[in-house]
Amino acid sequence: PSLKDVFAGDFMLGSSFLVSEIADPDGPHAQLLEKHFNALTAGNELKWDATEPQEGQFDFTRADRAFHFAQASGIAFRGHTLVWHSQTPDWVFYDEKGNLASKELLYERMKRHIETVMGRYKGQIYAWDVVNEVIEPGDNRPNGLRNSLWYQIAGEEYIEKAFEFAHAADPDAKLFINDYNTHQPEKRQFLHDLIKRLQAKGIPVDGVGHQMHINIQYPSAQEIDETIAAFADLGIEQQITELDMSSYTNDTDSWESFPLEQQIRQAYRYKEIFDVFRKYNDLITAVIFWGKDDANSWLRTFPVVRNNWPLLFDERLQAKYAYWALVDPS
Ligand code: XIL
Repeated sequence: PSLKDVFAGDFMLGSSFLVSEIADPDGPHAQLLEKHFNALTAGNELKWDATEPQEGQFDFTRADRAFHFAQASGIAFRGHTLVWHSQTPDWVFYDEKGNLASKELLYERMKRHIETVMGRYKGQIYAWDVVNEVIEPGDNRPNGLRNSLWYQIAGEEYIEKAFEFAHAADPDAKLFINDYNTHQPEKRQFLHDLIKRLQAKGIPVDGVGHQMHINIQYPSAQEIDETIAAFADLGIEQQITELDMSSYTNDTDSWESFPLEQQIRQAYRYKEIFDVFRKYNDLITAVIFWGKDDANSWLRTFPVVRNNWPLLFDERLQAKYAYWALVDPS
């Protein structure tokens, strides 16, 4: 069965992908994406370092390839991402003398970037991660904001500007604030309160994205349940934007293979978590995996190079127990 059909009454079901996987548009990777998903996200192709590597010099070669694959397949395409501290070239943050850019210069660059990238696909990308990973409680900044160069130059205001520029560039796109570890109570609260402040100022935030890079043990389905519930009062939609489940609970383990017992455990856990998503199908509009097959998962290189089996399909694109747990109605 096709995953998107299984969840048709609940939310869109999606996957990220890389253009390298769809080099052959009729190959097995492309076929798997088309069969199971009605929402796609480009894994890297729309990030700043890919689309505007040098100031004012835009390169949409890979972005277009990803976008056109989704479009030709009739699959909704999510934009990821506009303003982030990572995979963003250094020039964005410095002036020609090598000093930290002024706020004005930063906003000028941000505006042109957002206008150009969003403008290219105007009306055709249903949702954008306008800002990504802006909360980091460990940085000890007021309101839990990440101490990124964006923040150092412009303070919290850069987040408002990003949403304003995005709304102007494509008024039809749903504008998201996206982050990881949203189940952590402190981080969750900071993110919630930030959205509340933005709303109070009339900033157009349409949704909160939970990346949901989780592992075989944490967080519990109960904590995920509480997380979705914690954002309900904001009255905005929620998406699970980058779901995967690492086989490891630390950065040092490394296994040769994925023991059967662990495969079954992963399957039960995916099932349990999707039961939570279903319970909140009035709030959650999409659940998107960060990749489809274990061989191509980013967790094979992050945080270290090692085997990992976080997704629904194995190295040979065969369905895993985790897949069957999701499609089995019982
Ligand atoms: C990852 C990609 O999957 C990797 O290929 C790349 O090397 C690093 O970025 N949170 C995000 C994603 O918002 O953009 C990240 O994607 C994974 C974590």
